[in-house]
Amino acid sequence: MGIYRSRVLPHIMNAAMKSKANEEIRARVCSDLEGSVVEIGFGSGLNVPYYPAAVHTVHAVEPATRSFEIAAERVEASHVEVHHTGLTGERLDLPAGTADAVLSTWTLCTIPDIVAALAEIRRVLKPGGLLHFVEHGIAPDSKTIRRQRRIEPISKPIFGGCHLTRDIPALLTDNGFAIHTIAAFQHAKEPRPFGWTFEGRACVA
Ligand SMILES: C[S@@+](CC[C@H](N)C(=O)[O-])C[C@H]1O[C@@H](n2cnc3c(N)ncnc32)[C@H](O)[C@@H]1O
Repeated sequence: MGIYRSRVLPHIMNAAMKSKANEEIRARVCSDLEGSVVEIGFGSGLNVPYYPAAVHTVHAVEPATRSFEIAAERVEASHVEVHHTGLTGERLDLPAGTADAVLSTWTLCTIPDIVAALAEIRRVLKPGGLLHFVEHGIAPDSKTIRRQRRIEPISKPIFGGCHLTRDIPALLTDNGFAIHTIAAFQHAKEPRPFGWTFEGRACVA
């Protein structure tokens, strides 16, 4: 990982992902988490204030150790035990069937081997456990999709490998998940190519 990704990008992401609009979404996505949770792409811990009282442990998976350092104050202020369990979603250092839930907020766009990561999420979830997600991805209209395809090669290296055109619902259903609930909407504060959003819960099919 180069200096930009390891030392600079974590600060940019911490500032960029902190918006009021995101806070409202984080509160909804985290609202019914409980027990032992695996958070993929933990970043700078911006979800930590929204972990409900019913969560006792979070296994935080995050490749940028600087982001994990930025999260320290949020983690210290929380009632939840947060363990930095691993570096990448593609290989979770956790036994099968042990997570009550997996949380992913704006991360499935970035993980390079998304198929491997989804297989790992399925593996660690307990029977009946849910993947709680909010992700941006491919827009519903062809004009925006064309803009996303033009912008993606430029924005991807700037934003740490973030894809603009991942079809999140299709990736989930093609990789062994059933959609439990989903809402698709334009994010209030993001330009359209970056802001088409999928929020919901999925379970192992
Ligand atoms: C847009 S940020 C979102 C961070 C955080 N989830 C949030 O809501 O603020 C994407 C995150 O995915 C992380 N990431 C990148 N590659 C990853 C991988 N292979 N496995 C897990 N996380 C990854 C990045 O380091 C970054 O923290």
